[in-house]
Parts: sequence; structure tokens; C-alpha cells
Amino acid sequence: MSKPKILSTRPLFPAAREILDLHFEVDYGRPGEQISSGELLKRVADKEGLICLLTEKVDEELLAAAPKLRIAATVSVGFDNIDVAACTKHNVVATNTPGVLDDTTADFAWTLLMAIARRLLEGDEWMRSGTWPGWDLDQLLGGDVWGKTLGIMGFGRIGRGVARRAQGFQMRVLYSDAVRAPADVEKDLRAEFVDRDRLFRESDFISLHVPLLPDTRHLISKENLDKMKPTAYLINTSRGPVVDEAALAEALERKKIAGAALDVFEAEPKANPALLGRKDVILTPHIASASVETRTKMAVMAANNVVACFEGKRPPDALNADALGLR
Ligand code: GLV
Repeated sequence: MSKPKILSTRPLFPAAREILDLHFEVDYGRPGEQISSGELLKRVADKEGLICLLTEKVDEELLAAAPKLRIAATVSVGFDNIDVAACTKHNVVATNTPGVLDDTTADFAWTLLMAIARRLLEGDEWMRSGTWPGWDLDQLLGGDVWGKTLGIMGFGRIGRGVARRAQGFQMRVLYSDAVRAPADVEKDLRAEFVDRDRLFRESDFISLHVPLLPDTRHLISKENLDKMKPTAYLINTSRGPVVDEAALAEALERKKIAGAALDVFEAEPKANPALLGRKDVILTPHIASASVETRTKMAVMAANNVVACFEGKRPPDALNADALGLR
């Protein structure tokens, strides 16, 4: 019997390929190459399954072009690239990869936090340039991390991981979220629930962990940046459009805040040009979950979701299982 045909827009990793090759005839994308939307539409047309990345849109157009599609599995926890309602309408299961990347992403938010506060990249650049004249009292003075106030916007699994790490730095932790965490979680993480306004005003570091939703688009606006302390730092490992990059560049220029470290951007793969020349900014190319272990787990998770779907089971990470009546 011939195997079902699926498209994986990337070659993935051997551990995921092993699973997929056993069950499917897989059309793999080329390594290191983005697939254009035109090519994606063409290659998905005769497929029953799709494994894609957050850069690829699963929308009405794609779903209409792929009448045999049964599942669209994004290898990411964020799924703003997937129109879940349209998937449901087309009877397509949509899945993501929650849970496996929380600690890796929280680690990276901390990497950025420490690096921007203590001017790590400026120090590295100075050493490499061969122009450091030797130790002096007032060189590259940054802001302390320990003992400060950390404001976490979005207190899901990743936000909580960031809070957990703050305990080692004796920080006061504030958080805001649409839903208040249970009392035992607040107690365990020593985190205080506050409204956004207070979080903006009182935090020395603000780390973003919200999904991209209408309510969070440009959450970091001129108005909210104006509420922040002039000594505060902004860290973004969530989604680029949560930050109004032009407003951020302007706030930095006017010294409204002390610095920003961004792993995600409004119009990836580009960052706003006004940010590029700034020393008070660290920019990394959307790598918060990029450890060997975690990216492998994400790919394997996507593969297992697709396998479950073709075995007639409810894929473990189905986003629209209830809407599709999957049990
Ligand atoms: C990465 O940004 C993800 O959503 O997994």
C-alpha cells in the first residue's frame, strides 16, 4: 500500500525524519532555504499532511490549494502563522509544539537580560578591536540585575520559567496576564500580580512572553514606553509585532529607557533600521528556542502529531481538537 504524501518545508532532524519516513512519502524542503509562498502552494497541493515553520502561513489560500490536507503542524509554540478557524472550516487539524521549549526560551530571555544590562557585546567588541587601554573605574558601567524588579508580561509556561530563574538573583517579580495564576504558583515563584500600568512603571526589566493577539500588537507603544523608568530595559523573546520598533528606537534616542534586547522583529528577517546602529540594543535572529535538544524535540513533536492524525488518533497538540470533535 502506498504511503500518504506529506510536505515538510524543512529537512528537520534525523530523529524526526526517522519517524516520518516510516509512515509517509515525505517531500522535504531544502536545508537552510526559505520556501516561497508560491512554491509552498504548489508543493502542498497534492499532500495530506504539512509540517511547516512559523514563517509559513497556513491560511485560507493555502487550505483551498490543498484539498487533501488533513493536518498542518507548525514546528513552533506560537501559532500566529496558522489560521486555526480556517483549518477547522477545512477539516484540517492544526498543531503546535508547546511545553518542550519553555526552559530553553526562558534561559535565552535571561541571556539577553544579562547581556544588555552588563553591556556584554560592547565589551566583546572592545576587546576584539584591540583598543581597550586596560582597567579603569568607569568603563562600560551597566545596571545591576540582582535585587532589581523584573516585570513579566504574559505568565504562561515561559514567563513562569523566567520568574523561577529570577529567584537566584534575589529579584522582586511582578507579572501581568489576562488570567491571574493560582495562589500556589504565585507563592512558589514569589510573583506579584499587577496591572500592566504598574508593571510598566515599577519594573527595572520588562520581559515579554505574550502571544501575538490583537490586544498585544504594539503593546510596547510610545505611550507605554513613556511610563517606563529611564533606567529600565526591555527584553522581547515573544513575537516582534508586540513591540512598536519605531517607537522603541525613538524612546531609546530620547533616553526614555536604558536599553532593549530583541530576539524577534516586526518584519522578520529585518529589524527596523533605526535600531541597527545603536549600542543600547542587542539584536538576535529569533533563536530563543535554538538549542540542539529543544529544536530536535520540537521537530519530533510535530512528526508525532502528524503520525497520530493518520493513525486516527487525536494529535496530542491539536489546537482545534474540540472544534473538530476529535476524541
Ligand atoms: C518560536 O518563536 C516559537 O513560537 O516556537
